[in-house]
Amino acid sequence: MQHFIVIGNPIAHSKSPDLHHTFADSVGLDISYRRQLCPDDKDSFHAVVEAFFNGGGVGANVTLPFKEIAFELCSQTGSLSEYATTAKAVNTLALRDGKLFGDNTDGRGLVADLLDEGVTLQGAHIAIIGAGGATRGAILPLIEQGARLTIFNRTLARAEALKADFEEFGSIDINELHTLKSGDFYADVIINATSATTTGQTLELSDGVRAGFAYDMMYGKPSEFLAHFDRQGVRCCDGYGMLIQQAKLAFELWTGKRIDLDKVDWDKYINNKINS
Ligand code: ATR
Repeated sequence: MQHFIVIGNPIAHSKSPDLHHTFADSVGLDISYRRQLCPDDKDSFHAVVEAFFNGGGVGANVTLPFKEIAFELCSQTGSLSEYATTAKAVNTLALRDGKLFGDNTDGRGLVADLLDEGVTLQGAHIAIIGAGGATRGAILPLIEQGARLTIFNRTLARAEALKADFEEFGSIDINELHTLKSGDFYADVIINATSATTTGQTLELSDGVRAGFAYDMMYGKPSEFLAHFDRQGVRCCDGYGMLIQQAKLAFELWTGKRIDLDKVDWDKYINNKINS
């Protein structure tokens, strides 16, 4: 049996064990995947990771608030994928040649979900609202798809820092979020990567802000952002698919198995649990 964990604080509500057991069943692998609560400090995180991999663990997911700490740990003692390097955050840990390897599958998970929804990314103008970790992880995968990006943020300086960090990969337009409070704006795809939906806050968007497709990286809470576009008849999508896709990419990295989401049985761990 192969062992996996997801490390976070809080962690009780993580859906990762259910997703990974679902994937494992679909390819006939016997795994254990459990939630690992970790005290919110660097030393505890290091100790948990060390104990897990020394004990023969195969892979770990990392969630709030440890993604940046995991990034630092891998950069000091192991290696990082280009996605984790540019995101400055790690959500997936594995061992490579006996050393820690950190990847970030969040942005590629977003891209996979958008493509799955039939959204064209090549040549598309994509507006992202927010300039935090969620946006940082999404930029490289979106640029790789040939998208043109405009980032809107409440604090312009954070958007400027992102623009500078990604200069070598392509040019990014930036703007202050408040410019969307009045006037007209159109993007092929508009993505909410702020934490506003999670904290129950509203982004003020004028009626002239329109899009071909609207995506909120959050899920499980009513999104005022998506409601704005839904009222306009725009196709909307929350971040549940991104959650599934980032997990799928981590599973594939760890096990070398390909997951076909159309052939996965969602009932055993996911649907029946939600309904019960
Ligand atoms: P994450 O890692 O989830 O991206 P983060 O790094 O704390 O979290 O970033 C949160 C993002 O949401 C930031 O872009 C933040 O804007 P600021 O840079 O101006 O702080 C944005 N954000 C959070 N609440 C917001 C709100 N009510 N209105 C607009 N932007 C908000």
